[in-house]
Amino acid sequence: MRILILSLIWVILLSATSGAVDTQQRAPLKQQVNHDQPIELLVQKMTLDEKIGQLIQYSYGSELTGPGGVKLDILDEIRRGRVGSLLNLTGAGATKEIQQIAVNQSRLGIPLIFGYDVIHGFKTIFPVPLGEAASWDLQSIQRSARIAAIEASAAGLHWTFAPMVDIARDPRWGRIMEGAGEDPYLGSLIAAARVHGFQGENLSADTTLLACVKHYAAYGAALGGRDYNTVDISDRTLREVYLPPFHAAVKAGVGSLMSSFNEINGIPATGNKYFLTDILRGEWGFDGFIVSDWGSIQEMIPHGIVHNKYEASELALQAGVDMDMMSSAYIENLAKLVQDKRLSEKQIDAAVYRILKMKFELGLFDDPYRYCNTGREKKMILNPRHLDAARDMARKSMVLLKNDKNLLPLSRKIGSIAVIGPLADNKEDPLGTWAAQGEAKDVITLLQGIKAALPSKTKVLYSRGCQIDKAEGNEIQEAVELAKTTDVIIAAVGESAMMTGEGLSRADIRIPEVQIDLLKALVETGKPVVVVLMNGRPLILRWVSENVPAIVETWLAGTQAGHAIADVLFGDYNPSGKLPVSFPYAVGQIPVFYNHKNTGRPKVENQRFCSRYTDIPNEPLYPFGYGLSYTTFAYSEITFNKDQMVMSDTLAVNVAVTNTGKVKGEEVVQIYIQDLVGSVTRPVKELKGFQKIMLSPGEQKNIRFKLTATDLAFYDREMKLVAEPGEFKVYVGGSSVDVKEARFELK
Ligand code: GLC
Repeated sequence: MRILILSLIWVILLSATSGAVDTQQRAPLKQQVNHDQPIELLVQKMTLDEKIGQLIQYSYGSELTGPGGVKLDILDEIRRGRVGSLLNLTGAGATKEIQQIAVNQSRLGIPLIFGYDVIHGFKTIFPVPLGEAASWDLQSIQRSARIAAIEASAAGLHWTFAPMVDIARDPRWGRIMEGAGEDPYLGSLIAAARVHGFQGENLSADTTLLACVKHYAAYGAALGGRDYNTVDISDRTLREVYLPPFHAAVKAGVGSLMSSFNEINGIPATGNKYFLTDILRGEWGFDGFIVSDWGSIQEMIPHGIVHNKYEASELALQAGVDMDMMSSAYIENLAKLVQDKRLSEKQIDAAVYRILKMKFELGLFDDPYRYCNTGREKKMILNPRHLDAARDMARKSMVLLKNDKNLLPLSRKIGSIAVIGPLADNKEDPLGTWAAQGEAKDVITLLQGIKAALPSKTKVLYSRGCQIDKAEGNEIQEAVELAKTTDVIIAAVGESAMMTGEGLSRADIRIPEVQIDLLKALVETGKPVVVVLMNGRPLILRWVSENVPAIVETWLAGTQAGHAIADVLFGDYNPSGKLPVSFPYAVGQIPVFYNHKNTGRPKVENQRFCSRYTDIPNEPLYPFGYGLSYTTFAYSEITFNKDQMVMSDTLAVNVAVTNTGKVKGEEVVQIYIQDLVGSVTRPVKELKGFQKIMLSPGEQKNIRFKLTATDLAFYDREMKLVAEPGEFKVYVGGSSVDVKEARFELK
């Protein structure tokens, strides 16, 4: 009853002032978001233009995250009720200023929703998402998103365009670094963790952000790994590989979704009703709102599926896109489409309703300035707890790829260390391209981290050796001369931030030649060399893997990169990361991924007529799920609680894992299945579970996984999700290749 009275008072207040544009700051009344009546009453009060205004989003301020801008007086558009959202404006003060214009100077005073790409941190920057995925630590990943939300919401933001959940099997695609790698099972769990992290339990709390799962759908399947390129894949691959993380995000309660730039099998995602409405809302029950990616409504013209923005607007709204990011198609055409009876006002109302409902859920009608507290902004941003969490996430994300003769961890008693390479004392690149408001000045470089980790008497020498893609003068020789005077060389090589990310696809993903020249010269000295990789995507590491004794994949590790890498190099943290994506042996091998099919002619050594390359192996250089530790682990044979299961059963799969080394360490115990014969061909392996466990030296733990028919299900010839009776293999191990195996039967 109270809610109804409050709602009615609010509506009366609204109608009393709806004629005038008052300059006083309206004291909004408390709204209960689950009571839809105020929204419907509000929609009834809105003109068609004001309704369309809620569907419009512009980038505001200098930071453009896509091509071109708009030549409009955006503040005037806001006053005229023709804007529903801004992106790229941050800051408690700056957002308050603009919000006051919307609330006090437009006819209805509907608050704006402010969005931003808070992808892996806001001011405290965490490792790039692919790095976080390598931790296989869902709790830490959720905490990373939680902290990002706390900082971003303190800076006036309501909405992040994350998590990006695009499955990627092609490291030529620069945006592979923004997701969780090649596997739908791991990707789905991480998608849900990030949604929970961003949105928390209560969207109207001033420490949570509305999340936006993107880019729907199959954006990572672009032909040739070339960004924005055509996607043409089977329905079964879509359903089994690319859609599960989106479904997981919806089940986790994500409040918004972003349509992708690419076409899917002939229809651009942004105009694709089958995906945006039939699957998303019809099958999955998604009740949030959909925003197009930057200009993607208008881009349906070059796609060649519409003639103009008028047709593009009709196609996008009919398909289910609620909000138009930066194409101006909706603001220019929706009213005319309604007048021309090509769209109904009811369809516009439905889109407006979904957006207003989210603004209610965020508490913006209750208090439009809830997120604009400059005092809280100062307190929450870049605080020591957040920095500690970023350091912890970064070291957990690191993957030990090689460690011959246990060169690592290094002793602190070491006399002298040479820290070499273009990324050794580099403050910019560890932040990655989606660095939000993260600043280079706050980054701890590898050199700084190593110096901070060692006693002052240790000689730590630095020389850049070369730049990312060129060397000046004889800086390689200078680095070599300096390195010769030390006991061990740490070489930091890889990619600059601008070599991986949106619009940054590369056909050659080797480490730049000049850096290999530097490494060759350093190895020539005969000193032990440790390579510290800093990169956003998988790289081709053949020369490094053949010639360097120790390699640590640290990704682009964020604000605390240097401390986190030093923690690993000196053994304060025993690396536990596992690759969430395959590292190809050669770019010609792409796409290479672990959950591939067997083919009719699987590879047979020294056999010509089989599925193979004559010049390289079929297998990647480093496989999915792989990562070493400073200790070793042994696996017992697999046992079952029964070796035959019926559809209604739960099969228990048991394995004992022992730490057979000398130091404590974490192991990601992974379980895969293989359906040996199905009504359609099945992958040779499918990840169905993992447990990250800590074991002390000599300690053994019994690990149990549970499999049900649901875990064994796939899309059959009629595209029905079914589990079929038959024989299965189970694999359990510390990677997708180093496994114990056993068989069971599903009756
Ligand atoms: C960009 C990206 C998308 C981002 C959006 C807003 O083009 O594709 O991921 O969220 O525009 O910056």
